[in-house]
Amino acid sequence: MQKHIAVIPGDGIGPEVTAQAVRVLNAIGQQFGHTFSYEYCLMGADAIDKTGDPLPQATVDTCLQSDAILFGAIGHPKYDNDPTAKVRPEQGLLRIRKALELFANIRPVKSYPSLYHLSPLKANALEEVDFVIFRELTGGIYFGKKELNEAGDVAIDECTYSSAEINRVSELAFQFAMNRRKKLTLVDKANVLETSRLWRKNVQAMAAKYPEVQVDYMFVDNAAMQLILYPKQFDVILTENMFGDIISDEGSVLTGSLGLLPSASVGNGRALFEPIHGSYPQAAGKDIANPLGSILSAALMLEYFEMHKEAQAVKDAVDWTLQHGFVTKDIDATNFYFTSTIGELVSDHILHKIPEGAVNQANIELRKSTII
Ligand code: IPM
Ligand code: MN
Repeated sequence: MQKHIAVIPGDGIGPEVTAQAVRVLNAIGQQFGHTFSYEYCLMGADAIDKTGDPLPQATVDTCLQSDAILFGAIGHPKYDNDPTAKVRPEQGLLRIRKALELFANIRPVKSYPSLYHLSPLKANALEEVDFVIFRELTGGIYFGKKELNEAGDVAIDECTYSSAEINRVSELAFQFAMNRRKKLTLVDKANVLETSRLWRKNVQAMAAKYPEVQVDYMFVDNAAMQLILYPKQFDVILTENMFGDIISDEGSVLTGSLGLLPSASVGNGRALFEPIHGSYPQAAGKDIANPLGSILSAALMLEYFEMHKEAQAVKDAVDWTLQHGFVTKDIDATNFYFTSTIGELVSDHILHKIPEGAVNQANIELRKSTII
């Protein structure tokens, strides 16, 4: 198969983690006989520096012509600390979500037994954690009217949802639940917010169409607590834009490292894949960031291309690195491997260059990329 991929490396550690995901895609191409071609585009602080615009039209055009988009990270401290900046890197990401109608952001959260010790939660709370967050991505408070009065002391962010916006993402979440444990939890704040009551009304009506799916309703404050107290109760979580942003970072604590979590944003025939972590500017250029969030995002892209064996090969290779202690600094601060070495190991595993059982412990300890 041939696939054309738009690659947006973005800011901070984005370029280095994305480079490893591309390397892994190339290994898959070689091993399974596919051709992946890439077109690199600008977005974020990088794009502002080079063009003055966080999302140049050329990037939108390239994305519209591609089969899928691989995105790294966005954000730069010089904007975070300047609330008066008129042009901000994040606008690039928000605008591309809107331009490509990426209305559903899908964030799987799964705990890895070999990483239980990294989570602040007790191991028994982490067993069998395996859920997926469906976050609405192109509506709500993120995209409502924003206003600051002339005196600069009153600000407004409006939150609007229509039934159509709620139903298109809910439909995807219900379908997804049908292929999993058939449980869906709508997270909202229906005791306070009118928009949340509209979510509930629509999801209740949709639940009637999916009698096999057990549907729960949970207020977001309680959900934030339940995610930590008893995370294995969740299967599919459906929620609006801002609640989804917040609880998905919280969910990452269950995996041991934010650096491991991939995500897919999908809409009408378009899809963008990105790790959920940010641009982590302190680590940029040091070859220490965790590339697995980006590599697992590439695995989600392969699923989207219906290349299921290929996606499984990536996930198996990632599991293999974690089980053998080939991990980056966020996971083991003393015995760590570089970003590029992890990418090389995952690729080598996919290409069967590493015979099973042939890992040489002495070389592991020396942190050599040639381990056999
Ligand atoms: C995310 C990020 C973005 C968001 C930021 C960078 C605008 O936190 O993808 O979760 O809030 O959606
Ligand atoms: Mn976020």
